[in-house]
This record gives sequence, C-alpha cells and structure tokens, in this order.
Amino acid sequence: MLKENITISYLRAKFNDLTVIEKELIQRSKDALKNAYAPYSGFLVGSSVLLSDGKIISANNQENVAFPSGLCAERVVLFNAGANYPNLEIDIIAVSAKSNSYEITDIISPCGACRQVMAEYQEKQNKKIKILLHLNNDDVLIFSSVDDLLPLLFTNPNLKKF
Ligand code: THU
Repeated sequence: MLKENITISYLRAKFNDLTVIEKELIQRSKDALKNAYAPYSGFLVGSSVLLSDGKIISANNQENVAFPSGLCAERVVLFNAGANYPNLEIDIIAVSAKSNSYEITDIISPCGACRQVMAEYQEKQNKKIKILLHLNNDDVLIFSSVDDLLPLLFTNPNLKKF
C-alpha cells in the first residue's frame, strides 16, 4: 500500500489588495445576493462571472419548496454563461454569502456539484477559471483554478473510454 498526497493551494487576500476588476466582481456578487430567493434556508448567496469580453454577469441561489429543485448561485450564473455566451470564456467567478439568521464567520465554499460544473466549463474552454471566495471579515480566498477546489475529479476522458 502506498500513501499518496495531493496538495492544493490558494491565497488569502484582503479586499483592498484585489485588482479593480476583482473588487468589482466581489461587489457584483454581494449585490446579487440581495435578490436571492432563499425563503427556506435564509442563506443568501451571490455569484458573479467575468467573461472573456469583459462582461460581468451575476446571479443568486434559487430555492424551491421541493428542496432538490432549487439551485446554488454558482450554477445559476455558470449555466447562464453557458446558455447565453457559449463562445466566451469564463475568466473569474466570485462568490459571496450572507445569512438572515447568523453572522457567517467561516469560509463559504462552493458545494461539490458546483465545483463539478466549474470543472466542466474549465475543461471545455481549456483555460483556468479563477475563483474568488469572499469572507465576511473582508478576507478573500483566491483559487487560481478549479483544480485546487476539486482535485481528483471525474473528467471527460473517464467517460470517453467507452
Ligand atoms: N448555496 C449556494 O447557492 N452556493 C453555495 O456555495 C452553497 C449553498 C445555497 C443553496 C441553498 O439555497 C442555500 O445556499 C443553503 O444551502
């Protein structure tokens, strides 16, 4: 038996240290979370995407009384990008969150399904997607690619074998 390790890395930055466009993306994700439809969890998530032509799109989580029918903010915005701008690349995705009932102090990190969707688009465009996770205390975690969020992922070649 052989023990193997995978190392992931990310940067922890202060909001003020971000580039102008990164700050704009965080701001747009914070604006977007205000329109989240989250009556069941009270957990509001906003996400914004920078496309390769400079356009920024944003979205938020959409819940449903049949819980699994709802969708996370990240997938709403990513599917929007895929549906409406299929020929543009996704350069950066930013995520912010707020709870109606408590102060979020921990890192809010995308769920597994959202990571898998990010990975698909990254693979499709063959260009890394940067991820910005905004924490309440003004810290921002910066992942330079989806690879660091989802190591050992299920990917295209696994499916193309048959
Ligand atoms: N949620 C997101 O939109 N993104 C995440 O990264 C984590 C969770 C949503 C799903 C659901 O509407 C609520 O937050 C509580 O899980």
